Amino acid sequence: MRNVHDGRAGAARQESGGDSGVRGKRVLVTGGTRGLGEQIVRLLVAEGAWVATCARTERDLETMAVSLAGEGGRALFTRALDVTEPARLEQFAMAAAQRFGGLDGVVACAGGSRGGGFEQTDAADWAATWELNVGHAVRLVRAAIPHLRDAGGGSVVLISSISGWKPGPPIQYGAAKSAQIHLAASLARELGPDGIRVNAVSPGSMLIPGRRWDRMRREDPERFAGFAAAELPGGELVAPQEVARVVAFLLSDWSSGVSGAHLPVDRAQNAPSPDGY
Ligand SMILES: NC(=O)c1ccc[n+]([C@@H]2O[C@H](COP(=O)([O-])OP(=O)(O)OC[C@H]3O[C@@H](n4cnc5c(N)ncnc54)[C@H](OP(=O)(O)O)[C@@H]3O)[C@@H](O)[C@H]2O)c1
Repeated sequence: MRNVHDGRAGAARQESGGDSGVRGKRVLVTGGTRGLGEQIVRLLVAEGAWVATCARTERDLETMAVSLAGEGGRALFTRALDVTEPARLEQFAMAAAQRFGGLDGVVACAGGSRGGGFEQTDAADWAATWELNVGHAVRLVRAAIPHLRDAGGGSVVLISSISGWKPGPPIQYGAAKSAQIHLAASLARELGPDGIRVNAVSPGSMLIPGRRWDRMRREDPERFAGFAAAELPGGELVAPQEVARVVAFLLSDWSSGVSGAHLPVDRAQNAPSPDGY
């Protein structure tokens, strides 16, 4: 397999047993302290990758670094920043590449929605949602391109959503997530000549401790059960760990033939939420 490096020059590191194809990969993941991003970072580090991640909350990054210290945590490089601040994100990509001696992959995972229902949102909500999901992904890819080219190619994964291809509120979120799917398809063609693969992953509603669906499960179990029964054929929401494994696959050379794809990881979920149409 190509593009396998040992990260920081001269640094020895512990690696886990089986070969999932990401060992030695140098990967930047945005939004890595909670939810899906956290699971991606933990899986990549456990599988022997060198991982750079960012979030706005410094304390959470420190906590994560401490918790990973025992299992290859020296492979983790963190920085507190807001991904919607272009210069900070670009500097981080540069710093990660310097730290690891290059980059083999990037994952645009930070994302979310601003504002409420269609008639309650204003232009600022639309702009903020666009910037957080699409703007940050575009700038991350642009900043990473020279490093991925230098590595002889690489893998870009954009975290979209079931809301990017199935109708449901909030519309500003779905529209931005839909744009990420288009971005992956077009960038795959644009960057393919450089050996850079680009794919979009669309998680279904993920069951994340303390987050929306987990809260609904605890606070309104009847509504949650109705949602799961109506929209998920197996009656269970997808776990972020399941999505993280697909992201790791796309970062690995095992997926060398996959580019421009949109991969839903949603357990065949139908509507994205019980507030749907
Ligand atoms: N949750 C779901 O059910 C679901 C379903 C489909 C798709 N998705 C997508 O999956 C991705 C992850 O979602 P999640 O629910 O796992 O996220 P989350 O739990 O809200 O975690 C978001 C992570 O991103 C960081 N973050 C948020 N805004 C940031 C910013 N402006 N700059 C830097 N870091 C930022 C957070 O740390 P700080 O707050 O400290 O910055 C945290 O580490 C998103 O793109 C989301 O749209 C989620």
